[in-house]
Amino acid sequence: MPLPTIFLLALVQISLVLAYLPPNYEKQTASAKQEILWGQLRQSPYPAGRLPVEGPSALQAAQLLVPTFLKGSFNCANDEMDYDSRKWKIIHTFGTCAKATLRPFANSTYTGVFKSGAPGIIRLSAVRIVADNMIPSMGFKALIDGVPSANFHNVFSPDGQGLNKNFFANNVSNIIPDSQQTPLQVVAVAFTATLRILSIWPSEQPEDANSMPLYEQSSIETSGKVVPKGKVYAPWRIDYVPNPAIGYSPNATEDFRVKIAETPVGSVLYTLVAYWTRAQAEAKTGGVAIGELVLDSNFIASAYCDQGLFLNHASKRWQKE
Ligand SMILES: *[C@@H]1O[C@H](CO)[C@@H](O)[C@H](O)[C@H]1NC(C)=O
Ligand SMILES: *[C@@H]1O[C@H](CO)[C@@H](O)[C@H](O)[C@H]1NC(C)=O
Ligand SMILES: *[C@@H]1O[C@H](CO)[C@@H](O)[C@H](O)[C@H]1NC(C)=O
Repeated sequence: MPLPTIFLLALVQISLVLAYLPPNYEKQTASAKQEILWGQLRQSPYPAGRLPVEGPSALQAAQLLVPTFLKGSFNCANDEMDYDSRKWKIIHTFGTCAKATLRPFANSTYTGVFKSGAPGIIRLSAVRIVADNMIPSMGFKALIDGVPSANFHNVFSPDGQGLNKNFFANNVSNIIPDSQQTPLQVVAVAFTATLRILSIWPSEQPEDANSMPLYEQSSIETSGKVVPKGKVYAPWRIDYVPNPAIGYSPNATEDFRVKIAETPVGSVLYTLVAYWTRAQAEAKTGGVAIGELVLDSNFIASAYCDQGLFLNHASKRWQKE
């Protein structure tokens, strides 16, 4: 093993030992939690020029086909991975993290964090790292005073944008198109099987693996205030439209994490365009700009960003109230 690899492994291990969140973490305010997570993210940066690209083995990846394994992605509400079952993120393995704020426009009629806004952590990752295909995905953890966070997962297309290296070349969305590739279709089937064991009420389960629903995020404000039942107004689909000003050359030769790190603090990263119902989203009518995701810090690619931070998947189906 060449020396740098040994060094890197040691670094990762040492940094993860330091990475436990304090026991009273969850009870703190949203902004305090943002600072605590940011402190962890900054403690374990990868050394310059040594960003890891080697993902999980085929054997580890095969766990994705096991619904009880995948179930952990939905049922664990923590902001940090469960250390006892420490594992790589099998997809979205490598990314880069920063502080960001969800800032709704004053005219947003959606509820929960789409009305209150929320401080949080953004994670930009590649679904898989492959030389000839950029597959952008974006996760955002909206922090809530005193209780678990509301998380968002968004992907462009599981099949990626090919040779275009610009991470910000395409929209990402909570509703993702079907993959045209057989291995990913198999994963989608396993993911759907997982959804079926999430709740005993089929009407509460997300429709399918292509929909990462936004009902839970529309049910709670960043202050912890719960939106009364019957008053939740949740979008079925959100397109996150990247700010063209932060895009970069489709021919960039550097790693996406290096290019993203050049984004100026304070930039608008994405504008959120919401569609209330599935019918509207599919007809591409009624889309309304409801807010922005704004960058509050520089981006850091770190061991904690890849192996510590955890963004659970929402498990409750979209509903019209
Ligand atoms: C809401 O406000 C934003 C920002 O000011 C604007 O871009 C958007 O068009 C407005 N939406 C509606 C429905 O007026
Ligand atoms: C990106 O999303 C916006 C808002 O929904 C939409 O108008 C636009 O067509 C999308 N871009 C592409 C290339 O699909
Ligand atoms: C990227 O490379 C292609 C092929 O070499 C070239 O046609 C295109 O002009 C380049 N684009 C930019 C923005 O540099």
